Amino acid sequence: MPPKLASQVEKIMTANRREHDGCVYTVPSPGTYPYQWLWDSCFHAIILSHFDVDAAKAELRSLFTKQFSNGMIPHMIYWEPGEAVDIDWGKGGETSSLTQPPLCAYAVWRVYQVDKDISFLEDTYRSLFHFYQYLLNDRDPHRQHLIGIINPDESGEDNSPRFDQLLGLDDQHPFDKNFRRRLDLVEKNKACNFDAPFCMKDHFWVKDVPFNAIMVEGLDAMSRIADKLGRTRDARYFSDQRSSIISAMYDLMQGEDGLFYSTHGKHYQKINKETWAIFAPMFAGIVSDKEAEVLVEKYLTQESKFQTQYPVPTVPQDNSAFSADDMWRGPTWIGVNWFIYRGLQRYGYNSVAGDIKDGSQQLLQESGFCEYYNPFTGEGLGAKQFTWGGLVIDMQE
Ligand code: GLC
Repeated sequence: MPPKLASQVEKIMTANRREHDGCVYTVPSPGTYPYQWLWDSCFHAIILSHFDVDAAKAELRSLFTKQFSNGMIPHMIYWEPGEAVDIDWGKGGETSSLTQPPLCAYAVWRVYQVDKDISFLEDTYRSLFHFYQYLLNDRDPHRQHLIGIINPDESGEDNSPRFDQLLGLDDQHPFDKNFRRRLDLVEKNKACNFDAPFCMKDHFWVKDVPFNAIMVEGLDAMSRIADKLGRTRDARYFSDQRSSIISAMYDLMQGEDGLFYSTHGKHYQKINKETWAIFAPMFAGIVSDKEAEVLVEKYLTQESKFQTQYPVPTVPQDNSAFSADDMWRGPTWIGVNWFIYRGLQRYGYNSVAGDIKDGSQQLLQESGFCEYYNPFTGEGLGAKQFTWGGLVIDMQE
């Protein structure tokens, strides 16, 4: 990685660091996102693990401090309220009442690899245990082995076309309209008291592919962590849960074309929308080598699909919902590139992975650390001084 870029990563991670009530965390963007977010903090810990392992640990410890008594970890902690909350994602109070993709066990395990500090695993295990238990129980009440989300924002991909149909939206619609529909859903979340198994599932109940793929990888990490701590029964339990989710993904998500699609409702109706989510199972090692080959050759590197000047667009160009500059509806995000990069490496596609790493570095060098980028021109869009670009530090052979 070019030394100048590496030092820019360190600089932004230091500039965005905050301390509150003895907790140290990183804001994704000081202007637009001045709080702590769940999956962002996992990204941050992974980035920080490359040059400041103590800060990486502090970031995750801080995230766990606001865990709910039922085990849920909220997607936002408003450490210093009042700056920019234009929407209250919860019941009022100091956190949102939604969650986000469960990347934290993976992040804890990655941080542990740096200095093998067993006390870090011991200290965080309880929070992790309750969080994954919450997801396995409350978010899968009928034991179908797929974890449900109750709001698009829980996917981390707020306005992804995967959720259009459920929000009653056409393929092309203004950003504000999408936002208003998600606000209406938050009102329903509130009326349901954010109760996933009993109430919210009647309004929005999606089994999302990336969320479940990240869960699979999280359960693998849980199994390894439990094993390290001598908790053999837990280790076996988490490993069994992992296998069950993989089987359920094959049974309920795989379409006739071999791709994995998110589902909605009680009857697991497939949401036939192609987005970058089709690659998420590679991150968790779920698909076979043959399936991975199809994903890479027929989709990822296809000009009509995901091959653009600045890859990887979040939605393929030939999709009627594609829009080059509308957040999760086409632009390139470096967090997504990181998931895809790691999936490619896992299956031995080192050269394609290298192209994604180079493209990501180029975006940062040409347009700076932005939230997302136009996949044709590389123009930086959305929030500025955004941390996710730091993940290039974790894209190494
Ligand atoms: C946006 C992104 C979400 C992220 C948050 C903070 O809402 O869609 O994934 O967690 O910003 O960066």
